[in-house]
Amino acid sequence: MGKILDGKALAKKIRSKVKTETAELVEKYNLIPHLAVILIGNDPASETYVASKERASKRAGIKSTIIKKSPDISEKKLIKIIEELNQDNSVHGILLQLPIPKHIDSEKVINMIDPKKDVDGFSNYHVARLNKGLDALVPCTPLGIMEILSEYNINPEGKHAVVMGRSQIVGKPMASLLLKANATVTITHSRTKDLTSITKQADILVVAVGKAKMIDKKYIKPGAVLIDVGISRIDGKLYGDIDFENVKEEAGYITPVPGGVGPMTIAMLLQNTLKCYKNIVQ
Ligand code: GUN
Repeated sequence: MGKILDGKALAKKIRSKVKTETAELVEKYNLIPHLAVILIGNDPASETYVASKERASKRAGIKSTIIKKSPDISEKKLIKIIEELNQDNSVHGILLQLPIPKHIDSEKVINMIDPKKDVDGFSNYHVARLNKGLDALVPCTPLGIMEILSEYNINPEGKHAVVMGRSQIVGKPMASLLLKANATVTITHSRTKDLTSITKQADILVVAVGKAKMIDKKYIKPGAVLIDVGISRIDGKLYGDIDFENVKEEAGYITPVPGGVGPMTIAMLLQNTLKCYKNIVQ
């Protein structure tokens, strides 16, 4: 049986550290860190994520404001909201929950967010810096995965890391971080041929494809580190992209769903919010 990578426990530790540091900084600067979250529309998954983000922020002593807008909001109006948040000195982090409606140019609006307040690190400024290996605000999910690896003393250096999925939110920044950590990195995607021959080479396999239980034994090398980013709800139960029961004996390490990557994403959001706050107030 592979070792469970307990993201939930690590996230708890990090949230507690953020809470302590937040209290010290509030004492010192007499100013509460403040995260503004823009939520457009009524996507149930997005509503759940945003509610979790708000709860975690409040528990850590970070103020959270949710700005909820109807799905027919114009691009112009959204830009105005972002510009106001950019100008607002009481706001230190801005998060635009994705996906947003198709009539809005997401590239354009994401890049309207002041890079100083870009807690997701989705703007071109931070993407470029990350890819150059410079200090950047790093997207929360891949950052949380690097924290899990570090916590369990899994050093990517020299390992073959295979990232399944090429999204801006997970796959691409994940590949950049693993490369920065001196792994040999392969990205696979929906057009990849002979997928299993590649994934079977992975010492570290990060799966972010959004297909419940897709990854079974035939995809993995025995002893591999398996990181499951997927969350699908089927009949009220949560499943990852990895078929946990099928691979658990052969895995070296594995993140469970729930309780693996998900809680770390939120912990990293708090950490990034505090990073933005410190950069602004110090
Ligand atoms: N939608 C799914 N994941 C994320 C995330 O990490 N940040 C934002 N803003 N939207 C998301």
